[in-house]
Order: sequence, then C-alpha cells, then structure tokens
Amino acid sequence: MRRVFSGVQPSGNLTIGNYLGAIKQFVELQNEAEALYCVVDLHAITVPQDPAELRKRSREIVQLYLASGVDPNKATVFIQSHVKEHAELGWILQCASYMGELNRMTQFKDKSEGKQSVHVGLYTYPILMAADILLYDATHVPVGDDQKQHIELTRDIAERFNGRFGETFVIPEPQIQKFGARIMALDEPTKKMSKSAENENSRIAILEQPSVFKKKIMRAVTDTENEIRFDEENKPGISNLLTIYSLFANASVEELVARYQGQGYGNLKKDLVELMTDKLSAIQKRYEELNDPAELDKILVASAEKARTIAERTVNRVKDAMGL
Ligand code: ADP
Ligand code: NA
Repeated sequence: MRRVFSGVQPSGNLTIGNYLGAIKQFVELQNEAEALYCVVDLHAITVPQDPAELRKRSREIVQLYLASGVDPNKATVFIQSHVKEHAELGWILQCASYMGELNRMTQFKDKSEGKQSVHVGLYTYPILMAADILLYDATHVPVGDDQKQHIELTRDIAERFNGRFGETFVIPEPQIQKFGARIMALDEPTKKMSKSAENENSRIAILEQPSVFKKKIMRAVTDTENEIRFDEENKPGISNLLTIYSLFANASVEELVARYQGQGYGNLKKDLVELMTDKLSAIQKRYEELNDPAELDKILVASAEKARTIAERTVNRVKDAMGL
C-alpha cells in the first residue's frame, strides 16, 4: 500500500512555490494513495510566533489546502499539535539520532546564521520531521527539493532504529518532482522562494491580489539578453518564470519557448500575469467559499482522530521495541 504524508509550516502566507512544489502534488496524490496532509505548527514554534496569529494561520493553511483541491473525504488533513504522538516520537527519536547528523543539515545553517539567539528546537527540528513521517508508516513524502536532506536523515534514523530494535518503521521515499521542485525568488533567482524570507518582493502569496503580484512579475529579475530560452544556470530569472508559467499552464517549457520565439520578456511576463490571475482567482474564490469555522473544526476534529489512531499504533510499537 502506498501512503503519502507531507506538511507545511504555518510560518507565513503560502507562496506559489509551496503551491507548485508541494500542494499541487498533494491534490494529485490523494487519488492514487492513502494521504495525510498536516499543518506542522510544532515546527513553526522553532522561531518566535505570536500565539493568536499562529493559531489563525494554521487554520488558514488548512483552508488553503482545501481551496487548492485537497479533498477531506480523500485525504486526512490535520494540525500537527492536535496529535500528541508527534512530540512523543520526536523525543524518542532524539535519543536515536546523533549530533553529527544534525550538524550536517544545511537548512539549520541557513536559518540560524547571523541570529543572536537560536532555540534548540530549530536545531533538532529535522528529527521532529522524521517523527512526523515515520508515525504514519508513510511510503512516500511529496516535498520540494529543499527537503531532500531531511528525508535522507529520516531514512537513516529509521534504518538504524530497525537494525537496533527490530523492524519497526517503514522506510519512506522522497517524492520530488523532476520539474518545479524549486521555484526561485523573483528578486534574486539564485535563491529559493520562501514564505518566511524578509523581502516581500521575492515571493507571491497564493492569496495575493493580481494588482500586487503584477508589479512583482513585471519587475522580476531577468537578464539583459532579452532572448527567451530555458537555461537555469546562465538565465535563472527567465528560466524560473518559464517554470512557473509551464506549471500553471500545464504546458511544456519547449512549447512555451517556441510560442515566444522572437518576443521580448515583457510579453511573456504580461501573459504570465494574466494566466496567474486566472488560476489564483479560482483558488481565492474557493478559499472565500470555505470560510466556515464550524465546518473547518468538524473536519479537523475528525481528521485528527483518524491520524491519532495510526500514530498511537506506531508509538506503541516503538515503546515496546525499546523497553518503555
Ligand atoms: P517555506 O520554505 O516556504 O517556508 P515550508 O518549509 O513550510 O515552506 O515547506 C512546505 C513545502 O513547500 C515543502 O514541501 C517544501 O519543500 C515546499 N517548498 C517550499 N518552498 C518551495 C519552492 N520555492 N519551490 C518548490 N517547493 C517549495
Ligand atoms: Na522549507
């Protein structure tokens, strides 16, 4: 049986990077496999959060999953902290992981660099992520490219645990798209687009108004060549726009390059704004329609219950194996 698990942090407004790299896959996979999609609020508190804002944002992300096409009748959609086994297995796995392994995680280096004080949780966060995945016996984890290293760590921890304590965990595979796994920042196309980056102009939120994202796309950094060609190394800006276009249009990059031959960047950007206005408006409209807190609560309670049933079984198996 294929079982997919994935999560998104409520650490900002979801971007088109999150949508194209992760959520779009969530929607496709819910039809092929048993799926659990989580809003990982325990991960968000690795950096300071405003309590009311955090609670609100976690729910907004659930609403956005649903607006993007995740169907609560096909997939289990829940909030991580509602299932206490995440924290429990997270601790146990901290005692089955090594400092040396965590020291190799590049994301910690990026996120802690230049900060005066850093919480321990930011450092151990990849182990909580391993717990999230292993709790559900996930066989596949649909994520963007930036999470590859964390999935590798998850596999290492699980394999070692199985070796030491007997077959306990399913070893998960990362499911990373060949194309679109790394949407780049609009202002600096050599960096990944992130919902928590400082510069607002680097990203486009799924819920952003066309008048706002139009400016960002029209000003997106490209190059002086004015020739539309896909070349991520030498032309990262225009290649990023082609990638975004291709994913929203369900058209191949080759097709787009042919269509825009001899035209300047301005035309491509203008059409991309129009296409995204179309696609994002549809999601935004569904998002508004789904604005029903009581209904959302109902979904979240039922889903957490379903998730907990699986998670409890795994934790019991782990405790048994370890003598707890
Ligand atoms: P962010 O890095 O934007 O704060 P998260 O860490 O919560 O987002 O990641 C949520 C999911 O979105 C993960 O699967 C991650 O790999 C994916 N993702 C994040 N940014 C991008 C991007 N720029 N391109 C493709 N996928 C991305
Ligand atoms: Na990330």
